[in-house]
Amino acid sequence: MLVSAKEMLEKAKAGKYAVGQFNINNLEWTKAILLTAQELNSPVILGVSEGAGKYMCGFNTVAGMVNGMIKTLGITVPVALHLDHGTYEGAKKCIEDGFSSIMFDGSHYPIEENIAKTKELVALAGEKGISVEAEVGAIGGEEDGVLGGGEVADPDECKMIADLGVTMLAAGIGNIHGKYPANWPGLRFDVLEKISEKVGKMPLVLHGGTGIPADMIKRAISLGVSKINVNTECQLAFADATRKYIEAGKDLEGKGFDPRKLLAPGVEAIKATVKEKMELFGSVNKA
Ligand code: 13P
Repeated sequence: MLVSAKEMLEKAKAGKYAVGQFNINNLEWTKAILLTAQELNSPVILGVSEGAGKYMCGFNTVAGMVNGMIKTLGITVPVALHLDHGTYEGAKKCIEDGFSSIMFDGSHYPIEENIAKTKELVALAGEKGISVEAEVGAIGGEEDGVLGGGEVADPDECKMIADLGVTMLAAGIGNIHGKYPANWPGLRFDVLEKISEKVGKMPLVLHGGTGIPADMIKRAISLGVSKINVNTECQLAFADATRKYIEAGKDLEGKGFDPRKLLAPGVEAIKATVKEKMELFGSVNKA
């Protein structure tokens, strides 16, 4: 059964570790992440962007697939199905379609509008026990074709949004989606510290987990980050393993063209990436 992200993140915040959000794109992705979480006895959050939701034939299809897998694969660790960077309409749709957690990304709106829309969604989600992530200070980089410059969140605005009753808060602290450029100056721990002081027990979310060095991840967790999002790194690992399979001509050997064989190395690569992250985030055996 799907659960809201509330309890797992409150436990993570108190225990000074983070739960990984891994974005899914298809059945293979989902299966690889769920099996790894179960194997490591770790809670997990499956992230679905609006683009990935469309690709997988709608949020209802995704919820059906995930619920089916949890049952058939015998997954007993806590699993939240979470909308990643949702629009107002997308968030409402996920609340109807069986997601257990939503993110409303109102970071591009003026703060008053971000507050008004977040408030409304908190009320709607609350009726169904669904957790809500809000965002202050846009995360840079490209996601689903939307390119952002990356902002650093204002700690006072973070406090205003946190007070609306959201479950967790994503704040821009110099993090970006996708690969980090060679001249990236690193995370703004000074800002993270101020935000942490302002929002108290509220679990903080670090987006753009791909390529953040391990020491920065650990420091971010020590300063109140309890959820870390990873997407690109699984995609790169999958693509790399698949390329190697094709380049080695394995699809031309016997029944190597069978998708169940052709996609297997990519699935193993996703599993290895998820395992590495769960170990780094400290969520192993925290189910
Ligand atoms: P990356 O693709 O950089 O890992 O970021 C994922 C993310 O933050 C999803 O919201």
